[in-house]
Amino acid sequence: MVENTYDLVVIGGGPGGYVAAIRAAQLGMTVACVEGRGALGGTCLNVGCIPSKALLHSSELYEQATHGFADHGIAASGVKVDVAKMLARKDQVVLKHTKGVEFLLKKNKVAYVQGWGAIAAPGTVAVKLAKGGTDTLKAKRIVIATGSEVTPLANVAIDEKQIVSSTGGLVLDHVPRELIVIGGGYIGLELGSVWRRLGAKVTVVEFLDRVTPNMDSEISKEMQKILTKQGMAFRLSTKVTAAKPGKNGVAVTVEPAAGGAPETLTAGIVLVSIGRRPYTAGLGLEAVGVKRDNAGRIVVDHAFATSVKDIYAIGDVIAGPMLAHKASEDGIACVETIAGRHGHVDYNLVPGVVYTWPEAAAVGKTEEQLKAEGVAYTVGKFPFTAVSRATVNGHNQGFIKILADRKTDRALGCHIVGPDAGTLIHEAVAVMAFGGSAEDIAMISHAHPTLAEGMKEAALAVAGRALHV
Ligand code: FAD
Ligand code: NAI
Repeated sequence: MVENTYDLVVIGGGPGGYVAAIRAAQLGMTVACVEGRGALGGTCLNVGCIPSKALLHSSELYEQATHGFADHGIAASGVKVDVAKMLARKDQVVLKHTKGVEFLLKKNKVAYVQGWGAIAAPGTVAVKLAKGGTDTLKAKRIVIATGSEVTPLANVAIDEKQIVSSTGGLVLDHVPRELIVIGGGYIGLELGSVWRRLGAKVTVVEFLDRVTPNMDSEISKEMQKILTKQGMAFRLSTKVTAAKPGKNGVAVTVEPAAGGAPETLTAGIVLVSIGRRPYTAGLGLEAVGVKRDNAGRIVVDHAFATSVKDIYAIGDVIAGPMLAHKASEDGIACVETIAGRHGHVDYNLVPGVVYTWPEAAAVGKTEEQLKAEGVAYTVGKFPFTAVSRATVNGHNQGFIKILADRKTDRALGCHIVGPDAGTLIHEAVAVMAFGGSAEDIAMISHAHPTLAEGMKEAALAVAGRALHV
């Protein structure tokens, strides 16, 4: 190998890019991974999945200590939150992960090039090095894995102090008295939960008429009901037209989504979480002719090839759910195909999980989608109140819903609100990946007493045979 010449150069070290780089190295390619942020792991490890889950876990422990223990006969007094310590722990968790990825790249002999990359020409990546100067990498193939960034909102300028994105929302140095969350999706509900548990009065302003609008509508309703009971307030079908920071907090102007009289809400902190958009700034895509769609996503074919030969793209920067595991699956499938093997991602089977407590999880089609597609289906639903382990644990809110083809019984979707929904959903993912039926789930022996028994019962309910309701 000539120095700086690789079989593959991956631009971006997130869960799409670093996983693609490792898999390509395993397949025998010489690989470099270019990352500009100063740490590997991308949005996910640095300012996304990992820090948010660390804070969700810490804040849930506090919630349990202050509101859950008493039911179990455990008296806990003087329980206090040390925000600085909680954030420091989160930072340590992040560091362990980002250093872990660095170790993995080294172990797999992937060159970690620290700096911002641009495609100077097909086969050439110019890197503005973090240590100063530039480097030119030659590559037989290039994979773009540059991820996504926060979608901005007109008249709501993010300063990461009073008006924050998720990045600022992960590092607040105090618990705000009031927090207004703009957007009731994944980030809004997760970070809203963190700060509500720690003491903030949280109001979620959502443009549409329900939270988590991409999920099955029954899940959205149940989530909102449970989160409202926990103390979160919701303003649905409402739009934010402006937010102005001032000495006494941020003045947020809202009005009905359909139009109407404006109203002003105030809060110490405003979190903007209305979605994310692909990030391609500075890559030089126009000059080399890599096509993007109207939403700014790089257009790829079934093999992740862009409009320019030997340039590929994966993860948040292309179409599909903006999820870490999806980005990784893209990366693996992309380099497997490059290596002449088989690579494929079934986007219908990418599970989505909202890590509130209880959690919401989904895979496959929602009821609304099946209706729109004219598919005849059967619904099996089972409440956690009838799952013994849920009652044992004192966490028995929510339900499991399985959708199956009315004629063939093939499992088409599974939607859960409840304890550990994010773990439970994988049984449905596995069965659906093998083209299994609701009856297949119903016939499997599930250990007693586990939350997973609810999956069996929901599957039995598809045939009207649930045993414990
Ligand atoms: P990214 O992770 O965004 O990585 C892209 C990397 O490329 C970045 O590090 C960036 O610095 C680098 N880069 C960009 N341009 C260049 C360039 N020109 N040169 C060099 N480097 C460059 N998903 C889940 O599945 N589960 C979760 O629990 C979850 N929680 C989340 C919580 C939050 C608060 C947020 C914001 C996101 C969360 N996500 C979660 C989404 C997840 O983080 C993304 O889907 C995932 O990180 C996408 O991976 P990626 O590799 O495509 O891009
Ligand atoms: P989101 O798409 O999940 O939710 C955005 C919400 O904002 C939607 O409900 C939308 O209707 C609403 N909205 C849009 N414009 C609005 C406006 N002007 N005013 C009020 N509401 C508005 O996006 P979010 O929460 O920002 O997260 C971005 C992405 O990051 C997610 O889609 C997901 O892919 C990923 N993510 C995944 C997590 C997980 O897997 N647990 C956690 C956090 C983020």
